[in-house]
Amino acid sequence: MALPQQRPILITGGRVIDPANGRDGIFDVLIADGEIKAVDQSIPAGSLDGAVRVIHAGGLVVCPGFIDIHTHLREPGFEYKETIATGAAAAARGGFTTICAMPNTDPAIDNAAVVDYIANRAASVPARVRVFGCVTKQRAGRELADMEELISAGVVAFSDDGDPVYDAGLMRLALTYSRDLGVPISNHCEDHELCPGGVMAEGWVSSRLGLAGIPAVAEEAMVARDISLAELTGGRLHVAHLSSAGSVAMVRQAKERGIPVTAEVCPHHLLLTDAWALGGKGDPNVAAGPLAYDTYTKVYPPLRTETDVAACVAGLADGTIDCVATDHAPHERVSKECTYHEAAFGISVLETALGTLMSAVHNGDVSLPTMIERLTTGPARVLGNGLSQYTALTPGTPADLTLFDPDAAWTVDVNQFASMGRNTPLDGVELRGRVAATIAGGRLVFEEPAVLNKGETA
Ligand code: NCD
Repeated sequence: MALPQQRPILITGGRVIDPANGRDGIFDVLIADGEIKAVDQSIPAGSLDGAVRVIHAGGLVVCPGFIDIHTHLREPGFEYKETIATGAAAAARGGFTTICAMPNTDPAIDNAAVVDYIANRAASVPARVRVFGCVTKQRAGRELADMEELISAGVVAFSDDGDPVYDAGLMRLALTYSRDLGVPISNHCEDHELCPGGVMAEGWVSSRLGLAGIPAVAEEAMVARDISLAELTGGRLHVAHLSSAGSVAMVRQAKERGIPVTAEVCPHHLLLTDAWALGGKGDPNVAAGPLAYDTYTKVYPPLRTETDVAACVAGLADGTIDCVATDHAPHERVSKECTYHEAAFGISVLETALGTLMSAVHNGDVSLPTMIERLTTGPARVLGNGLSQYTALTPGTPADLTLFDPDAAWTVDVNQFASMGRNTPLDGVELRGRVAATIAGGRLVFEEPAVLNKGETA
């Protein structure tokens, strides 16, 4: 991300929540030359030269820009689903200033040339783009990718996401390298043998719809295997899109035993249940429209039960789960306008993430500063590779910030998305909590005038 600089920005009167510096209060923030220049109780605009843009942020939260360590940008290979440019624009609308491109592209990100290609394509988009490399060559699960070459090219972690690292011996080897290289292995935990043909969570909804189920144990069996391998090797295991109560319990216990494991949870697994597959936006008594179900709810891992949702929320609140990650998985329309079995797995998440997450805050289950921590310092800690400079509102550091109204109610309209992926079951649903502005590298990369105006008039 190397965009031309803009004039200085002075943000006044917002509630600054800066978990890295333990700050939560009303402050002014001055940004110039791409950096945070000052954070103070009062920075008079008169003391600055007239070219400064003043944003009155009364009633808004001002915090470090969100970091997403699980974003499917689809480029190269699937540009009809998303491009790096449209994904980055969606990130800016969602308040994310750093996103991590997942390697299930075509070609897959298993060599330095593909990493370089992505870095070039990301040079002038409105978000910082970091890259995950494949664990195995072509994500085929047979032979490790050249992890050292990929690290030299700049990858920040490894994953075969979309598929698990199925072979336990290979996973052991990858974790051993990860220990020595200091970079995590993020695994998509799914034991195929336990869910042949499964398309949604196994339970009463899958029975009612006559759809093949995916039991929670398909995730949990591999989480258990991977925790054992992390203990054996000392390698850094990261559990991607963790979604079941059993997985949360295992990660909690592993951490208590000092095993090097981290985990992420997606916004949809903190709010939606398998009942959403019935097509009534979560109301089990409302039948779907022309189809018997809503294919936009098809996602991996599947939406599960209330118990699983509650366990994920509790795990995020108590730190068992280190961070939120969107698993933004954009798909073209035809891959969802079909039968549930044929539909692609995945939800477009970047632009609804904050509104979805804020329900856990409004319900009193996760405090607002904790939620912000899980979107900033939390993901940076998982990668442990220098993203921390983007997670603190400290003078002298790059100015990546998100401004949002925690209370603004709005209705999701996929036609407004910057993402090419309009695949979300939340279309038409009212959420509370909306991004007002996103600043990346000192540059205002997104502003929503209707929300920013609240600060102007507060
Ligand atoms: C992801 C995709 O479409 O790439 N789909 C999904 O349902 N989450 C793959 C993945 O993250 O498992």
